[in-house]
Amino acid sequence: MPKPKVLLTHKIPSSARATLEGACDVDYNDGYVLPADALKSRLADKQGVISVLTDAMTADVMDAAPDLKVIANIAVGFNNIDVPAARARGIVVTNTPDVLTEATADMTWALIMDITRRVSEGDRLVRRGGWKGWSLDFMLGMELRGKQLGIVGYGRIGRAVAVRAAAFGLRVVYSDVQAVPGSDAIPLDRLLSTSDIVSIHCPLTPETRHLIDQAALARMKRSAYLINTSRGPVVDESALAWALRERMISGAALDVYEEEPHVHPELLALENVVLAPHLGSATTDTRTAMADLAVRNAIAVLTGQPPLTPVP
Ligand code: DGY
Repeated sequence: MPKPKVLLTHKIPSSARATLEGACDVDYNDGYVLPADALKSRLADKQGVISVLTDAMTADVMDAAPDLKVIANIAVGFNNIDVPAARARGIVVTNTPDVLTEATADMTWALIMDITRRVSEGDRLVRRGGWKGWSLDFMLGMELRGKQLGIVGYGRIGRAVAVRAAAFGLRVVYSDVQAVPGSDAIPLDRLLSTSDIVSIHCPLTPETRHLIDQAALARMKRSAYLINTSRGPVVDESALAWALRERMISGAALDVYEEEPHVHPELLALENVVLAPHLGSATTDTRTAMADLAVRNAIAVLTGQPPLTPVP
């Protein structure tokens, strides 16, 4: 039996690559993101693809891959994949939930601490020689104890962020489009108007695109902070730049952007925003676990087994 043919669109750790090579005939892309045309021609004879969030797996791309059985995304998010189009073509789509929950929750807290205590802003000041010495009222931030953390999207990562909040003495509220009746979820408007920190953890869907727009930002307290480690387009970046410039909110910390790696130029010029380069799951342990899981998903489907983590 010939091995199934798989396209690996991105470099992965050698352990995961060895597992994949054991079961599949692998076509590697060790370079940059494959443009649509290259993706189509490399997928023409493949049964599987191990993709990342920068690969646009559109219906058009799928049509160029008549034998494709599985798209194994190395990410928990799967907004880069047209899932209904895949389903219509009998292609299984998998993602990598759970393995990145703790790393992403840790990164959220790194951003919360950074923006509320002005760590990156202070670092920039020191590096440009602007620090003139200790002073009682110098670069004051916000104390966490006793404040309210509002979590938008109470899935695995949102909950892991909430667990850590207890250690800092924060009270947690949450809202979720999928909240079940009788849960403790509160309406988004109330969460926005009462929270001192608003942290976004929902997936990007047509309903959540620009969920945080100018009206939502105007509802927040002027002393509040916005954190986004989910997907950039959940926040309207132009509206956020306005809110930060006009001090409608105190600050923001972002790990994700509307058009990565492009960052809205107005955000680049503002001091009251921390800008991280999509590092939510970027620890060696987590990225290795994500690649392993994607490889195991692809192999499972290509050997006639059920996928470990199909997208819901
Ligand atoms: C994900 O898994 O969706 C992350 O954004 C990738 O780090």
